[in-house]
Amino acid sequence: MKAVLRALLFFTLYGIGSSVSFAADTASLPRGYEKWPKSRARIITDKNSLFYGIHYIYVENNTLKTYRNGGAYPQGSRFVVENFAIRDGGGKPVEGKKSMIVMMRKDRKQQATGGWLFAGFTPEGKPAGIDPRQNCFECHQKDTGATDLVISKFADFR
Ligand code: HEC
Repeated sequence: MKAVLRALLFFTLYGIGSSVSFAADTASLPRGYEKWPKSRARIITDKNSLFYGIHYIYVENNTLKTYRNGGAYPQGSRFVVENFAIRDGGGKPVEGKKSMIVMMRKDRKQQATGGWLFAGFTPEGKPAGIDPRQNCFECHQKDTGATDLVISKFADFR
């Protein structure tokens, strides 16, 4: 994900994100995802971690049941994650600027990425031009056999 972050940063800094497009990245962010059930702040202070920063997971209502009970997700299931930079708020980590947004949507057409569409977006919600297989799927594929490529756990959600 470091590579992903670097790529996102690159695209953001050089403003070419919107002109670079990959087939699977033409997806847009679901409208109104901000109103879906939202995780508490997940704070990762390990600078070597991919999720260094503060992130929130949004899970669509219809997706919540499988998230809780396990098993294969129905077509159209959706997750969105918002990542924020971390800054020092007098000894405790506080939220900085939004750094990126990622999405997964169950879609049987996306065979190369395990039947999920993976998409990355700039903080403004524009496609970030990432390679969904190399930059997303390859990591999500590790140790997620029983959870259908979903890594976070409902138990940690709230
Ligand atoms: C190096 C590994 C790695 C890479 C690369 C990666 N992720 Fe993740 N992803 C994770 C981890 C770990 C979590 C769980 C975070 C948590 O528990 O809060 C996660 C969670 C998610 C979630 C919430 C649903 C779930 O699986 O828990 C989405 C959506 C997501 N990632 C999308 C993406 C997209 C899109 C990309 C590519 C731009 C990507 N990820 C790249 C490791 C990775």
